[in-house]
Amino acid sequence: MTYKELDLVLGEVHAACLMGMEQVIAADCNLQAAEATARELGSGHILVTQQFAKAMIEHNIKGGSIVNISSIVAKMNNIGQANYAATKAGIISFTEVAAKEFGKFGIRVNAIMPGYINTPMSEVVPEKIKEQIVVCCPMGRMGEPTEVAEVIAFLASDKSSYVNGAAIEVTGGLK
Ligand SMILES: NC(=O)c1ccc[n+]([C@@H]2O[C@H](COP(=O)([O-])OP(=O)(O)OC[C@H]3O[C@@H](n4cnc5c(N)ncnc54)[C@H](O)[C@@H]3O)[C@@H](O)[C@H]2O)c1
Repeated sequence: MTYKELDLVLGEVHAACLMGMEQVIAADCNLQAAEATARELGSGHILVTQQFAKAMIEHNIKGGSIVNISSIVAKMNNIGQANYAATKAGIISFTEVAAKEFGKFGIRVNAIMPGYINTPMSEVVPEKIKEQIVVCCPMGRMGEPTEVAEVIAFLASDKSSYVNGAAIEVTGGLK
């Protein structure tokens, strides 16, 4: 993989960020808040994927790889995460469709579903909840960002040249 290709891939990865967890069901939820989360998480993926795929096609880059960041919450969710869970599940469907559409251009599109990872985002999770997560996780701990990054690097590399439209769990076995 060339530097140019890697640059494109990393651009997509960085753009996948958590922007809000307003509670859809909660009394203080409003349409604006729900739409903002869906826009930032969902539409952001769509627009960034569109731009990167266009750039890869225009530059005739073969073996391109786009990695979208979903979450295990897409299929194993909790109270208070309605919009986050729905959007993360949507990212998986979006990834599957994008994989079908861009396959003919030699561009693979995959998603990862991290479990609970030690990052600034998870710092706000109450210790009591974190303890419950750790108890439920077969590996008995939260994950580290580098452990997610290694899977992204695999998906970005030619080592995963026949992995396309997949959603890979990086959870330590959390079910
Ligand atoms: N941490 C977890 O336990 C966990 C679990 C599952 C999925 N995820 C997903 O992983 C991704 C990264 O999460 P994280 O835990 O590293 O979050 P984080 O809040 O620790 O980091 C997010 C990063 O995105 C950057 N960012 C924010 N807005 C941006 C923008 N508009 N453009 C470019 N960069 C921007 C921030 O500066 C920050 O560095 C998110 O999509 C999140 O939903 C995280």
